[in-house]
Amino acid sequence: MDRYAVIGHPIGHSKSPAIHSAFAAATGQILSYEAIEAPLGAGQFAATVERFRSQGGRGVNVTLPFKPDACAYATHLAESARCAGAANALKFEGDRCLAENFDGSGLVRDLSHNLGLRLAGRTVLLLGAGGASRGAILPLLRARPAQLWVLNRSAAKAEALVREFLALGADAAVLHGGGFDELAQSVRFDLVLNATSASLSAETLPLPARTFKPDGLAYDMVYGKGLTPFLRQAQQAGVRQLADGVGMLVEQAAEAFAWWRGVRPTTTDVIRRLSLPLI
Ligand code: ATR
Repeated sequence: MDRYAVIGHPIGHSKSPAIHSAFAAATGQILSYEAIEAPLGAGQFAATVERFRSQGGRGVNVTLPFKPDACAYATHLAESARCAGAANALKFEGDRCLAENFDGSGLVRDLSHNLGLRLAGRTVLLLGAGGASRGAILPLLRARPAQLWVLNRSAAKAEALVREFLALGADAAVLHGGGFDELAQSVRFDLVLNATSASLSAETLPLPARTFKPDGLAYDMVYGKGLTPFLRQAQQAGVRQLADGVGMLVEQAAEAFAWWRGVRPTTTDVIRRLSLPLI
């Protein structure tokens, strides 16, 4: 039987085995999918992948903190992995190891297919300048927003991140980086995405209510945390459409499944099953 796995540390919380097992059952694919905890430390991720490959592994998903290690380990990087400096899916073909990063495309697919948001011509605010934000920028730009602002607690980090994408050819009239203080004067945004890790520690971001449009969408990339402080802020600002990252999680899994198996599973039932009410 073809073997797949998700590798991370810790890994006990991972929903990936349940998601991929559901996809396999729905598409009639015969495969196994397990969760593997790799030890932390230099070379440990590569050693864990090597062992899995030697036991017949065909591909892996990669989660925190190993996404940059997955990029370094691979022999062939897709543009998504190269731009993000991180990979969340590997495929083994003989001696070759191909790397992809489906987080950003999973996000955009969730926004457009599941949440019904037309990104073209809209104003988008991306909060944070870490790995989650970096992986989202290119797929968001491809959806042709009128504006994509990347704002961060440390403005210099957002500015440096944006400069990297401008150097790759992004349009300076669309993509802008800076600090949260810019929100005092800025326009309202159709879509506000939280890609900071503040929700994991239940911290509140300094966002004026006028950042949000009531008929816009507020999206927190974390999942399974219910109504995060960010989503509560958006709700208090009158935003009616709130979403967490469960759809992004399932959509990136579907992209990986299709890449490995050549069959694209439907995602609606799995998203519904994993969704927690945002209350
Ligand atoms: P990830 O890979 O999840 O993006 P990361 O690379 O550690 O994680 O980045 C975390 C992001 O969350 C950063 O943008 C960080 O802001 P700084 O660059 O200023 O540190 C942001 N972040 C974390 N906690 C935050 C908080 N309490 N308020 C605002 N931003 C926060």
